[in-house]
Amino acid sequence: MTNQKTFNPQPMSADKAGSTFNLEVIRADFPILQTKIYGKPLVYFDNGASSQRPIQVIDAISNYYKNDHSNIHRGVHHLSAVATEQYEQAREAVRKFINAKHDYECIFTSGTTESINLVAYSFSKQFIDKGDEIIVTEMEHHSNIVPWQIACEERGGILKVVPINNHGELETNELKNLIGPKTKLLAITHVSNTLGTVNPIKEIIEFAHQNNVVVLIDGAQAVPHMAVDVQDLNADFYAFSLHKMCGPTGVGILYGKEDLLKEMPPYRSGGSMIKNVSFSGTSYGDLPHKFEAGTPNIAGGIGTKAAIDYLLNLGMENINVYEQELLNYATQKIQKVDGLKIIGTANKKAGVLSFLIEGIHPYDTGAILDQLGIAVRTGHHCTEPIMKCYNIPGTVRASFAFYNTKEEIDVLIEGLFRVRKMLL
Ligand code: ALA
Repeated sequence: MTNQKTFNPQPMSADKAGSTFNLEVIRADFPILQTKIYGKPLVYFDNGASSQRPIQVIDAISNYYKNDHSNIHRGVHHLSAVATEQYEQAREAVRKFINAKHDYECIFTSGTTESINLVAYSFSKQFIDKGDEIIVTEMEHHSNIVPWQIACEERGGILKVVPINNHGELETNELKNLIGPKTKLLAITHVSNTLGTVNPIKEIIEFAHQNNVVVLIDGAQAVPHMAVDVQDLNADFYAFSLHKMCGPTGVGILYGKEDLLKEMPPYRSGGSMIKNVSFSGTSYGDLPHKFEAGTPNIAGGIGTKAAIDYLLNLGMENINVYEQELLNYATQKIQKVDGLKIIGTANKKAGVLSFLIEGIHPYDTGAILDQLGIAVRTGHHCTEPIMKCYNIPGTVRASFAFYNTKEEIDVLIEGLFRVRKMLL
């Protein structure tokens, strides 16, 4: 490894509010947070869509391209060996981050969407027959619905849906009623991107396993905000994206248990995923290569390790505690805005605050907040079934990260007062 900037642990201090962060130091790591939007300081509350990156991640990717780039798993030459070593170190970093048993159970993909599509295709091809059932929930992102609809269409399967209640919590009793002898797989989100609901997935997985049901967890909105241990959860599959956790875009992980991954056929085919190719028959490579055809996003792998190092240095527990503090503060303050209704009031939530102001379309709220330098997401957030359930066109969503501050939440609340004044 040449000229690789080593990660420099940042000093931390506790403040009166119980936060363990030195926010000034952390924020200084994120160049984009110094940006002005229309002359106003950026207030970035669209972390659920994609987080920002610290300089350590940006530098790791840049240094890789400047000094170490070559294709991996292919060459005998020095650069290829260096790049391969770094890429496989990233896989090991992922393994440790989610406490997988083996690094080869961590497949690099292009994101959560591809991770889920891989399972929907390969698992279904091997294990779903006519009349078998797959269960999803009403709070899933479209990427954890549509691949299962397609899989059911292709395999003759039946898709069943677990409803949610008014608070945006899963009706777990309904789930228990839906699981039957024909149920093969349950695909469920760990944290809802729209409602912030944290599902009790450990208990759900245990119940599913008692009924011989395999469980896929969409962890895209969980992994950036809390410590995840796939062995403790006993998840069969766990999917997530790096771009929501300070890493590069275009990189995701599919964790899968070894025995399941071994039985599943390849998803994509081509170079790198084979043992031998001949016209009389081709044999596939071992894990993880069987699922990693073609040249991967190598720089993305390098950035993945840098992002994981950064988060682990802060500590996932510290991140969780601080973000909960932000969520509680925002939830209390935002209710001072007349006519505002929070969508998603589950008992256990991650740092997501979806809301509507009576008489104002979410796009209008988002557009005015944008003029004030505040980035929020508006719309259905790729969860149309949730919108249908609440009978609303969309929401305004503020989603928090560990580099956000209470002062920024105050700016959002002031912005909402202004929205009301302008539009009502
Ligand atoms: N799934 C991402 C979001 O919730 C894009 O915004």
